[in-house]
Amino acid sequence: MLKEVIATRYIAPLREGGSLPGLIEADDLGTYVLKFTGAGQGRKTLVAEVVCAELARRLGLRVPRLVTVEVDPVLGLGEPDEQVQQLLKSSGGTNLGMDFLSGALGFDPLAFEVSAEEAGRIVWFDALVGNVDRSWRNPNLLRWRGELWLVDHGATMIWQHNWPGAATSAARPYDAADHALRPFAPDVASAAADLAPQVTEDLLAEVTAEIPDAWLTGEPGFGTPDELRRAYARPLLDRAPTVHQRIQGLGGDR
Ligand SMILES: Nc1ncnc2c1ncn2[C@@H]1O[C@H](COP(=O)(O)OP(=O)(O)OP(=O)(O)O)[C@@H](O)[C@H]1O
Ligand SMILES: [Mg+2]
Repeated sequence: MLKEVIATRYIAPLREGGSLPGLIEADDLGTYVLKFTGAGQGRKTLVAEVVCAELARRLGLRVPRLVTVEVDPVLGLGEPDEQVQQLLKSSGGTNLGMDFLSGALGFDPLAFEVSAEEAGRIVWFDALVGNVDRSWRNPNLLRWRGELWLVDHGATMIWQHNWPGAATSAARPYDAADHALRPFAPDVASAAADLAPQVTEDLLAEVTAEIPDAWLTGEPGFGTPDELRRAYARPLLDRAPTVHQRIQGLGGDR
């Protein structure tokens, strides 16, 4: 289970971010990036964040640690910004937090070298989860303490928005033409050989167990949270063995 903290203070909105993530302080005195249940696509975005980050971490990729953050809408009362006030008001209960990487820099492909091996692992992972949010325009990669960290996995697993079509949707190719790491000659073949066998039913059960029940209740067609957890795991399990063959747009002989 993810660690649970309680938001004690809203500090500021992050400079960027379409969903208006905020910076908060919690009862453990930690500073977290807060992603609101009341924002945009709501809790499905947060489920995607949890599944991807917890899977990526177990595959050896760097992602900030996640926590759940309890928000009392009262926090919004003193907020001068109306949009922020609205978000806090509509996000009472369980939200998603992640460790704030203080001093992290946005990824600059001209100033930072990435090995073909690491690029391959990240492209392979993005293909597995169908991440459309790692383009050179908006890489969602941070450089922190000399290393590359992955953030923002809300726009992945599009199949979760239409469960009856999930199997078909999850069989689709992945277009890596705009991927931020394309210039680093990603070695997806090696990544696939190493990572695909690790994506097992047991690993995915462990990953999906991290999704808070509160975000899994009331989904049409599903009885229990665990049923829905299995639905999240299935397309990833099916996709992992062959997804490297479906990566398009890397150029060369791929
Ligand atoms: N854990 C973190 N530590 C430090 N900075 C972060 C962290 N998470 C996100 N950021 C910064 O905040 C920005 C916005 O966060 P994120 O991309 O997750 O939000 P978003 O609303 O989904 O964004 P968008 O839809 O615009 O891509 C990131 O691009 C990054 O610069
Ligand atoms: Mg982003």
